[in-house]
Amino acid sequence: MRKNIVAGNWKMNKNLQEGIELAKELQAALNGKTVKCDVVICTPFIHLASVNAVIDGKTVRLGAENCADKVSGAYTGEVSAAMLASTGAQYVILGHSERRAYYGETNAILKEKVKLALENNLIPIFCIGEVLEEREAGKQNEVVKTQIEESLFDLSTEDFGKIVLAYEPVWAIGTGKTATPAQAQEIHAYIRSILAAKYGQAVANDTSILYGGSANAGNAKELFSNPDVDGGLIGGAALKVETFLPIVEAF
Ligand code: PGA
Repeated sequence: MRKNIVAGNWKMNKNLQEGIELAKELQAALNGKTVKCDVVICTPFIHLASVNAVIDGKTVRLGAENCADKVSGAYTGEVSAAMLASTGAQYVILGHSERRAYYGETNAILKEKVKLALENNLIPIFCIGEVLEEREAGKQNEVVKTQIEESLFDLSTEDFGKIVLAYEPVWAIGTGKTATPAQAQEIHAYIRSILAAKYGQAVANDTSILYGGSANAGNAKELFSNPDVDGGLIGGAALKVETFLPIVEAF
């Protein structure tokens, strides 16, 4: 069944103590509340185990922001999917545009990461999206199609059914420039049509497709009211409970 999800992406923000504090505050704010979406916080690696200890894993779920493309061994500085799972993490963001742009993550590398995440029972939040020049050239559909095909389309139907997608136009990330609800709906519907062509309409209907890029309390309701927008991946606004909670409550 398709789920509504609001996931925070803390990126490289908050020291350990600040991260634990934010997670505690969010858990406290959601205790006893009924919300209409799953709430996930994706934190830096070093926060994971400590944050897991202060959330209940149901009202607030835990995710990582990346994982290695190798199983284990001599890969200094890397963190494997199995290690992430051992902290209590349930999700992992993969293919974020910042990883693609600054750390050379290709569709082929991401394909390996997705496989390893799934083998370790982590739910990938797989990010796709075009840069400004591609949008201006009208190539956004082509770009997201290639990203999806090259990283995800060798998955079995069963495995694909575990994936969450996040459409994040790169020009909207951290810029304060959000895609309009109409732009989001148009490309989300297109993405769902590609999934339907490959895996069938039922799988496509069951896939959660989140929007990311300057989503905030002011625009979340309108974005989420679109039939093909199933939630958000939230950067800047996820760093404070007072800016994150209204997004969660936008459903
Ligand atoms: P933003 O980031 O909400 O700060 O634009 C979103 C993201 O990069 O996931």
